[in-house]
Amino acid sequence: MVRLCFVCLGNICRSPTAEAVMARLVREHRLDREIAVDSAGTGDYHVGEPPDSRSAAAARGRGVILKGRAVQFTAADFDRFDAVLAMDRRNEESLLALARDDADRAKVHLLRDFDPASPEGSEVPDPYYGGEKGFETVLDVCEAACRGLLEHLRREGRVGAA
Ligand code: 4NP
Repeated sequence: MVRLCFVCLGNICRSPTAEAVMARLVREHRLDREIAVDSAGTGDYHVGEPPDSRSAAAARGRGVILKGRAVQFTAADFDRFDAVLAMDRRNEESLLALARDDADRAKVHLLRDFDPASPEGSEVPDPYYGGEKGFETVLDVCEAACRGLLEHLRREGRVGAA
């Protein structure tokens, strides 16, 4: 089982979106028994809250259902996941600051680095203080990056071997 955790700041907009987009891809590819998805935030501002209603509405428009309540990522969570996908460089830095050793650090990646069409270091833009269009952009970006991530896992032989 490959265990993935998508991480943003609040765990109410970008990371629940990435988690749900990846969950749908995993189902479509019949990889439910090989890939598990989860999400968390580096901040604690929204712990316990459901996904942002604007994110949920945009996702629903594409048949994607956002799940869960916001949790904050802690150092011990590195033990529960094989890869931790940061939405932006600030989240990536927060995760690297939490990492206890090289093994933890090696699990941290920028999500968009798995999208072959995105320049290295690209971020999933924070939609929180913007308009409706920002939530559609998050979905577009997450769909492309999650497809790239799945392709990467296949290429590396981590899933779909049988
Ligand atoms: P997220 O969006 O990190 O994609 O969940 C945000 C949610 C809350 C805040 C910022 C971004 N905030 O500043 O409270």
